[in-house]
Amino acid sequence: MSALNERLEEDTPTPVLTAKNVVRRFGGVTAVNDVSFDVRRGEILGLIGPNGAGKTTMFDLLAGSVQPSSGEIMLNGAAVSGEAAHRRIGRGLGRTFQIPRPFPNLTLLDNVMLAAQSQAGEGLLANFLKPWRVKAEEKAAHDKAAELLELVNLSRLAHEPARVLSGGQRKLLELARVMMADPAIILLDEPAAGVNATLLEVIIDRIRDINARGITFLLIEHNIDMVTRLCHRVLVMASGQLLCEGTADEVARDPRVIEAYLGGAA
Ligand SMILES: Nc1ncnc2c1ncn2[C@@H]1O[C@H](COP(=O)(O)OP(=O)(O)OP(=O)(O)O)[C@@H](O)[C@H]1O
Ligand SMILES: [Mg+2]
Repeated sequence: MSALNERLEEDTPTPVLTAKNVVRRFGGVTAVNDVSFDVRRGEILGLIGPNGAGKTTMFDLLAGSVQPSSGEIMLNGAAVSGEAAHRRIGRGLGRTFQIPRPFPNLTLLDNVMLAAQSQAGEGLLANFLKPWRVKAEEKAAHDKAAELLELVNLSRLAHEPARVLSGGQRKLLELARVMMADPAIILLDEPAAGVNATLLEVIIDRIRDINARGITFLLIEHNIDMVTRLCHRVLVMASGQLLCEGTADEVARDPRVIEAYLGGAA
């Protein structure tokens, strides 16, 4: 390889995640219509757009809970279209849900521990043959879950059932839960929705901290203040299509974006 090629390669590392001409139809509705973009390693990329633009469907397609009608999804350079959601978790993709649904009667600690990627204690046989290993893994998962609850300021509620949490605290629990599988990229679907101003600051700080550890984010959010403060780059979707891309300030000034939001409100 020539020195120039090597340099070019260094300048353009493989994106963490790529959508290439992705289409998804539900009956007569084209929820995602020929969308292509890259998520660059280490960035916080925003995804905004009016209600019904196709943002959550795009997440479902990236995470594997919905499969594309056509097009390609690449994760760390590997084509993963058609691959199930749990396999993509194994490849380092984590996602949170627009409406978090923790197990209400389990403690916060158990809710986070349940998200552990592999558990030697899963099989009865493992329990019988290697009980010491199961114990050691349980202890490691417990300690990690406790640390993650501390990271999101929920330590003092670790032994409470998840049903006592406010909407905002549930979003923080989601963040701890998703971190349990050591993701390289986290997709966040409206982490600020229904969150009060104090908790919002906690969530913004935590996303910054986690990003500083090298974890990439793709963030769906209607809260433009949060998008402006966090995102290095922003994509705008409207009616299933990618409308434009730029910094938060650039897209906020783009007449096509303004029209899409006004059109949606009409
Ligand atoms: N499973 C489904 N079956 C049929 N239609 C669907 C399905 N999922 C999404 N849609 C439709 O696809 C379009 C995009 O929905 P989506 O939830 O992706 O939008 P969104 O941008 O996340 O909106 P919001 O900001 O309100 O969360 C909508 O018209 C929606 O009704
Ligand atoms: Mg949505």
